[in-house]
Amino acid sequence: MDILTSKQNGILTIEFNRPDKKNSITSAMYQLMADALKDGDTDPAVRVILFCGKPEVFSAGNDLEDFMNDTGDTGEDRPVAQFLRNLCMASKPVIAAVSGMAVGIGVTMLLHCDQIYAAEHTKFSMPFAKLGLCPELASSMLLPEIIGYHRAAELLFFGEPFFAEQAFDMGLVNKVLPAADLMTYACAQAAKLTVLPASSLRTTKHLMKARHAEAVTAQMIQENTYFSAMLQSPEAKEAFSAFFERRKPDFTKFP
Ligand code: COA
Repeated sequence: MDILTSKQNGILTIEFNRPDKKNSITSAMYQLMADALKDGDTDPAVRVILFCGKPEVFSAGNDLEDFMNDTGDTGEDRPVAQFLRNLCMASKPVIAAVSGMAVGIGVTMLLHCDQIYAAEHTKFSMPFAKLGLCPELASSMLLPEIIGYHRAAELLFFGEPFFAEQAFDMGLVNKVLPAADLMTYACAQAAKLTVLPASSLRTTKHLMKARHAEAVTAQMIQENTYFSAMLQSPEAKEAFSAFFERRKPDFTKFP
């Protein structure tokens, strides 16, 4: 199974488990995560949702082979759309424990989590422009709000890696820990939440997010319109082919 889920002591853990492909996310994995999120958000036995990956990699983002084979479908029932919706709308606290590296949606999904803990030296990047694409998951709105426009533009234009310590300084993660302590700490924080009044946590989250909810949805719809079209663009096709051919893409041939 490329996604592992377990429920224990009020915590639903959703774990990326495709290390041979750097935990890149296929359509089937989005579906499993969408279903797990929906189930976790409705199951009274679940009080907290915890995302994690492997020590060497959280996620390398969307599976690029899936991107290459994209058919241009923009339907709301696509597994990725279900995942995005269920993550944005989760009413229970969502924690992420991030280690190794996080790329693309492996980073933007964190903007919708409530607490983010990162292992020291974790490498983050959002190489959307480098792939001929544009930001998704409302990151084009949330990132400038969290870290400021100019820093967001730097991360989104250049798509270059930045490290956990920088992510902490920018307010993107709550705490940076030695890799060996990450899961223990994240699980302990999750356990603390399981014994707090669940309705108070839900209401607190709702109150913090409600002001933004409509704008987030509108931004995601707008991003999705561009993103879907750009997946079919010659620039994106060149970037995907270059990745699998292990060469540098050549964008100079496109106007
Ligand atoms: N989609 C599909 N396959 C991926 C992948 C992705 N996003 N990321 C990594 N893989 C695969 C590689 O093709 C390779 O498969 P192979 O062993 O069958 O050749 C395997 O995972 C290992 O990747 P590799 O590139 O050799 O590992 P690395 O440690 O040198 O680099 C990354 C790791 C994550 C920096 C690099 O793989 C990468 O840049 N991946 C693409 C990230 C990306 O652009 N994601 C989409 C963002 S929108």
